Amino acid sequence: MKKYFELIAPCHFGMEAVLKKEIIDLGYEISLVEDGRVTFLGDDEAICRANVFLRTAERVLLKVGSFRAETFEELFQGTKAIPWEEYIPQDGKFWVAKASSIKSKLFSPSDIQRIMKKAMVERMKPAYGISQFPETGSSYPLRVFLYKDQVTVGIDTSGDSLHKRGYRTLTSKAPITETLAAALIMLTPWKPDRILVDPFCGSGTFPIEAAMMAANMAPGMNRSFLSEDWKNLIPRKCWYEAMDEANDLVDLDVKVDIQGYDIDGDIVKAARANAESAGVADLIHFQQRPLSALSHPKKYGFLITNPPYGERIEEKENLPALYKEIGDRFRALDDWSAYIITAYEDAEKYIGRKADKNRKIYNGMMKTYFYQFMGPKPPARRREQN
Ligand SMILES: C[S@@+](CC[C@H](N)C(=O)[O-])C[C@H]1O[C@@H](n2cnc3c(N)ncnc32)[C@H](O)[C@@H]1O
Repeated sequence: MKKYFELIAPCHFGMEAVLKKEIIDLGYEISLVEDGRVTFLGDDEAICRANVFLRTAERVLLKVGSFRAETFEELFQGTKAIPWEEYIPQDGKFWVAKASSIKSKLFSPSDIQRIMKKAMVERMKPAYGISQFPETGSSYPLRVFLYKDQVTVGIDTSGDSLHKRGYRTLTSKAPITETLAAALIMLTPWKPDRILVDPFCGSGTFPIEAAMMAANMAPGMNRSFLSEDWKNLIPRKCWYEAMDEANDLVDLDVKVDIQGYDIDGDIVKAARANAESAGVADLIHFQQRPLSALSHPKKYGFLITNPPYGERIEEKENLPALYKEIGDRFRALDDWSAYIITAYEDAEKYIGRKADKNRKIYNGMMKTYFYQFMGPKPPARRREQN
């Protein structure tokens, strides 16, 4: 009989609804949505498919337990009660890779890590009949969240964070993460049959993520995952099937108009190389071009972009003129929409228009805004009359 697990997918704060929809579309049932993570139900196949297909999850954790702990003794006993031997083989390498605590009595990550490791060893000693663990086999790193004294424990199945798709070897000074770029595109009504231009494309993240979506290319096709080594829990066949499914879905013949521009010629070369390694170079037109030269002859396109926000003092001085130019160039485009993520507080003032919607988004520790200026929809195509 198939074994079902609870799987936890952490994501960017504020992007839970986007991730939830992705998980439902992949065919899984959601059991819980919390700030910064979505929990769902799935079997061994789901672990592989979630890792390979989810564009907005940071990683996929196999949930192994949840209990209350206000003291280290309760943390020890709660951890010891988890049947670790069902997940970790005798030679497995196990440790608490990350412990985070919010509004909880226990908060010292190093103490939480030490006590939980000790409790796991105590649990597995009688289960395996040994007192020393070689830890020479596959890795089983734990991630632990404490929220209001409720401890949630998961084993990381992904390894490197899922934003590392494998294509972005070269980056600009302030790149946006691939998972956040994908989530922001999904928050807009952009569809592959609409034009998408990023006039500040940097290393190409927005155009590349959009092209991968248009070509139905799974984000995890070009990388590996830590739990591929977990022969005790996930048969190799599940990974092969997930990769075969991903390969079968790719459609590189899709017709798109996706463009990326940047004033810096070297970064444009990097963007092109990144698109090449993602396998979508033929779907994107990259070119060195300043914002002042931005134009497009067609209607109803989308600007989706992450302009400079003044990371350095000298750049800050140029921001009013730059954002005024964004406004001027945007107004010159016919019935376009613009979606702009920036930490610049005066963006709307200089763009010269109040956004129709504005969302606060934390990009790491930095507070940013996702300004949404919505243009009209193209008229519905008239059905051909016979
Ligand atoms: C915040 S970065 C964009 C990062 C990008 N989203 C990525 O993931 O790599 C802003 C980019 O704007 C470019 N830039 C600055 N001024 C520009 C201008 N006037 N016209 C076009 N690009 C410009 C910079 O070279 C930089 O690559």
